[in-house]
Amino acid sequence: MELPFAESYKIKMVEPIRKSTPAQREAWIREAKFNVFNLRSEHVFIDLLTDSGNGAMSDMQWSALMQGDESYAGASSYYRLKSVIEDITGFPYFLPTHQGRAAENVLFSAMVREGDIVPGNSHFDTTKGHIEFRKAQAVDCTISQAFDTTIEHPFKGNIDLMKLEQVLKSYPRDRIPFIIVTITCNSSGGQPVSMENLKGVRRLAERYGIPVILDSARFAENAWFIKLREKDYHDSDIRNIAGEMFACADAMTMSCKKDGIVNMGGFIGFRDEELYKKASVYNIMFEGYNTYGGMSGRDMNALAQGLIEGTEFDYLQTRINQVAYLGNKLRDFGVPVLVPYGGHAIFVDAKRFFPHIPVSEFVAQTLVVELYREAGVRATEIGTLLADRDPVSRENRYPELELLRLAIPRRVYTNNHMDVVAVALKNIYDRRKDIKRGLKIISEAPIMRHFTVELGMA
Ligand code: F0G
Repeated sequence: MELPFAESYKIKMVEPIRKSTPAQREAWIREAKFNVFNLRSEHVFIDLLTDSGNGAMSDMQWSALMQGDESYAGASSYYRLKSVIEDITGFPYFLPTHQGRAAENVLFSAMVREGDIVPGNSHFDTTKGHIEFRKAQAVDCTISQAFDTTIEHPFKGNIDLMKLEQVLKSYPRDRIPFIIVTITCNSSGGQPVSMENLKGVRRLAERYGIPVILDSARFAENAWFIKLREKDYHDSDIRNIAGEMFACADAMTMSCKKDGIVNMGGFIGFRDEELYKKASVYNIMFEGYNTYGGMSGRDMNALAQGLIEGTEFDYLQTRINQVAYLGNKLRDFGVPVLVPYGGHAIFVDAKRFFPHIPVSEFVAQTLVVELYREAGVRATEIGTLLADRDPVSRENRYPELELLRLAIPRRVYTNNHMDVVAVALKNIYDRRKDIKRGLKIISEAPIMRHFTVELGMA
């Protein structure tokens, strides 16, 4: 008999989590104005709000913390991290930042001007936020298959090269500061971008003289999918694949809270010294001196080790298998999930789950609230709340997909936790017709409203 799959680690330290009663959860979610960002984490049993910054560090990472060099300038921790980043990405220059959006802030300060056009594949909300904040425009060139949750396309994060070329043709070169490709593409369901597509983007970019930037938060998961799904890569090493991916880019932004497996941190990687120098000015202003930026020495040490572990085959297999385990359970229960499964999360198609609730009543957020009520499981909405209002017309933007995201923290939960999440969603699915109304907005912020929005029953 073939041996079953088991995790590639054992557990050295645990953290208690608490169950609650339905009555308690009802009171807490009302107090939170139906916005799960307002819940206290101790009122959550299984927290799948995000996979960002909440992974479990290894014993090697905790030991590396102790050796952190907190020198203001020239710390050994900086050089240790620099060497790992260069090994994995091939980028000779880097700037540490406190997290991914800080990397965006610094790089975009150096590159994006009012009126610019930034094509990409379903830009993540902070990326789009930093573009729109500068009165520039993000143009989504993701392949159309990405917007149908039932199509089994292996690389739903891909850029539609025809759409991209149309954008490159339609605007003068100096209005397009760069093309940004998000690997894996979070907003389209944690979907990977193929090597072939990255190379296609590179070729087009070179033809039009435009730089390519990779939003790399989950680059190792992307490399995993290339290894599994793209011909010619089955025998390649994850790190070689990653190197080949980054060779298609001129620079990268990184939220290390994902595939870096640290609680806080980010960086920008550069090939070009001039751009590095230009961005350094903003890094010093917004983040910190170039050899620490937004990070302490110990955090840079833990990140250097995290990047090594995060690009190991066994780790990635454990990680992606757990996500697929949850996906398969949900599919077996008939719950409509986005396929293929994402690298970091399972996405439930809320429009197919609650076809009778209008999108204007925030159908995905309605499901987020129900899941919390059912089992104390915290998920997040990737739908109309997140899509925010059009910056010019101030009308709600209704995205094609209304998703509930179950993002799985790295090395944190067991498959028993996944079973609870799956059964909780099944129970709601069984009584879905009894849930007749969605939610309405009571108050919201002018940008990135989903974090602080207050909602009421519609
Ligand atoms: N890019 C992508 C693709 C992301 O998923 C995120 C964060 C960022 C950039 C910004 O990085 O949080 O370190 O500032 N995503 C988190 C999430 C918040 O829950 O998906 P950050």
